[in-house]
Amino acid sequence: MANLKGLKQGTLRLAVVTTAKYVIPRLLGPFCQRYPGIDVSLTVDNHERIIDSLIDNRDDLYIMSQPPDDLDVTIHPFLENPLVVLAWRNHPLAKEKAIPLKRMSEEPFIMREPGSGTRKAVQKLFDDQGLELKVKLDLGSNEAIKQAIAGGLGISVLSIHTLALEGPNSPLTILDVEGFPIQRYWYVVYPAGKQLSIIAQAFFEYLLNEGKTVAEQTSFQGILSQGRF
Ligand code: PGA
Repeated sequence: MANLKGLKQGTLRLAVVTTAKYVIPRLLGPFCQRYPGIDVSLTVDNHERIIDSLIDNRDDLYIMSQPPDDLDVTIHPFLENPLVVLAWRNHPLAKEKAIPLKRMSEEPFIMREPGSGTRKAVQKLFDDQGLELKVKLDLGSNEAIKQAIAGGLGISVLSIHTLALEGPNSPLTILDVEGFPIQRYWYVVYPAGKQLSIIAQAFFEYLLNEGKTVAEQTSFQGILSQGRF
């Protein structure tokens, strides 16, 4: 009975990194239909700020690609979140295969802002190879980066999910670069030992059990079905 009540009303508080905003709202659709009395508060921010929310215990569940190893947290992966190299579709490298990573460091690069998990992953790959990127500008938004790429300002590395709504006429293309895609996952994270609300527990189980299937069922293939990846 108490269980039933917990799922009838209340607020689910989620904090997610910016790459996850391309998937989580879609996953919330069927979940909210199942529990129509539930309200959702969804915070979208970069990795560093989501970690701050986690430390302050501001939300029920946190979604990120790089769970902290210095905090006592419970961590469960639920969906792949690969990073790909994006360029303007008429870029000279667009038709090349197996482009060496080193070649990337010769191109003007558009980088996510400090504090971004995407930035951290890109930086690590190039640091590990002893390569330096020619960063032309820092931008604090995946969408702004996509516009800058379309404007011919340079190439970038973003989550493949940022292409979720790009149709066949997208101005963007995925480059075939050695070492890419960078394979990563999204994790659901919450402080270890925290007693989840009934609704948070239900969403947690939904993500783990049905997240991947619902994400695939509701995804619009667009650019990804063009054989360019
Ligand atoms: P970001 O995080 O929004 O901080 O780049 C994305 C991620 O780590 O997937």
